[in-house]
Amino acid sequence: MVKKKTCVFISGQGSNLNNLIIRSRENNFPIKISLIISNNKNAKGISYAKKYRIPYFYIDTKKLNYEKIVLYNLKKYKISFICLAGYMRIISSHLIRNYQNKIINVHPSLLPKFKGLNTFSRMLKKGEIKAGCTVHYVNKKLDSGSTIVQKFFYINNHDNENTLREKTQKLEYKAFPEAIIKIFRNI
Ligand code: GAR
Repeated sequence: MVKKKTCVFISGQGSNLNNLIIRSRENNFPIKISLIISNNKNAKGISYAKKYRIPYFYIDTKKLNYEKIVLYNLKKYKISFICLAGYMRIISSHLIRNYQNKIINVHPSLLPKFKGLNTFSRMLKKGEIKAGCTVHYVNKKLDSGSTIVQKFFYINNHDNENTLREKTQKLEYKAFPEAIIKIFRNI
């Protein structure tokens, strides 16, 4: 199997990145992580790039030409698929045009509910019954592309933002690889 060369964008802890790296080392997993891009110099996730010797670089999204640098590197590493794993910036429409239907994101809510930031506090305030995660295609509108995989759990009275985050991330570690397998299964 020829694995799709994939770039993962991160901003923080990188626990989904770590999980994807581990899964992608399995023989029959459809992607190989060939590049990691972080918009945060101090992202803990960068340590996984170093640990597994995967090329990585930092982008300063305040710089005007940062998109050119991103696209240049995506081409240089022959990237054909992109995963956003806790990347907390909006992807530019230029990049989306270049990678139409080839960018996916994991979001910590049951989309279309709770797009954007602070999902857990908003869920608790609203008295939601269920929480979960969604892996979806990225399009021009925030957290609005079509869903690939969604997983949920029931919220209980003892849950707080931290427990919701923990439970959601556990589901993400299953949902993200599952979505990737689903995408490439029929190609
Ligand atoms: C993940 O839980 C992901 O759902 C969320 O950031 C976390 C990153 O964790 N993403 C978003 O909120 C995007 N809107 P990680 O860095 O440990 O993978």
